[in-house]
Amino acid sequence: MRIQPRIKELWVIGLFLAVCLAAAIQTGCSKVSPMVAFFVYDGSDTFISEMMEDITARIPPDISFVVRDAGNSQAVQNQQIVELIGKSYDLFIINAVDRLACSSIVEKCQKEGVPVVFFNREPLADALTGSNAFYVGAAADSLGKKQADMAAALFGNDFSHSPYDKNGDNVVQAVILKGEQGHQDAEKRTDNCVSRLKALGFSVDVLAVESANWRRQEAYEAMDRLYTLFGERIELVFANNDDMALGAIDYLLSVNVFKRGPSGVQPFPIVGVDGTEVGLEAIGEGLLYGTVNNDSANQGEAILALLDSIIYNRDMNEFPFEITNNHYVYIDGDIITKENLAEYTKIAE
Ligand code: GAL
Repeated sequence: MRIQPRIKELWVIGLFLAVCLAAAIQTGCSKVSPMVAFFVYDGSDTFISEMMEDITARIPPDISFVVRDAGNSQAVQNQQIVELIGKSYDLFIINAVDRLACSSIVEKCQKEGVPVVFFNREPLADALTGSNAFYVGAAADSLGKKQADMAAALFGNDFSHSPYDKNGDNVVQAVILKGEQGHQDAEKRTDNCVSRLKALGFSVDVLAVESANWRRQEAYEAMDRLYTLFGERIELVFANNDDMALGAIDYLLSVNVFKRGPSGVQPFPIVGVDGTEVGLEAIGEGLLYGTVNNDSANQGEAILALLDSIIYNRDMNEFPFEITNNHYVYIDGDIITKENLAEYTKIAE
């Protein structure tokens, strides 16, 4: 008589324990949502911080993520990667401090089965091996060429009869503010802006190429030196990014060579790359002649598409962006001047 209810009780307890175990496996032992870690080379970089703001705002709510800032130190970034590598992350998205470190990062991650997407700072060609290693960045050659296209359109067909050939020698005296040495964007933009301008029929005399490491303050100091050296001879400045263009402008404003005002006409044009908020503002003010969009919105879109494909194991044949050599996604960008500025400031709002 007593045995029956006992068995019933045991059944209920057993069922209860099974449900608890299932719940524990779901919540305790394994994680609830996919986890992604972002590693950023330096959060104080204007372009990168804008891009990160944009990407993190668009990460689907069912994905949890963390962001680590290396403060421009590869040693710090290595440490940050080591700290997270055994912690069940489904994907690392890495903006490497030093491009040369990428192959050992890939090796480490592949050993632990963590897929990697690099962005903005391109790994060397042999670093990306295996199936789960990718790079997303700007089409560096094209952005440099478009800087030249912009200058050429401004100068017109007959440079020597334009107001821009200040010494009337029919040669463009140009100065280049270069980004960080060895960075693919700095090297390729520098080469391509000049070679394209020549290919378009201009004679170009590069007075100086000076690296200012993408930084506004360093470019201010570089322009101080360059203007002291070349002064009026400068007819064009190609800056590898907007922040350096703005540093040059800061200096030229401080010595009254550039002027704020309704005319927006300066003694020579400065052309940047990026399309950061401050860059666009300077175009509006007539200080920066123009820039080429380093299309962070689309680069972010490509990174998020890779995140989705990798985490949910989607068919890569359906991937919405072109993949070069199985590993690289390059995003092109368009010219921005005062004429089409409204389109971009609307996006930024
Ligand atoms: C470039 C960008 C620069 C800087 C650099 C950092 O693509 O134009 O402004 O952010 O990346 O790696």
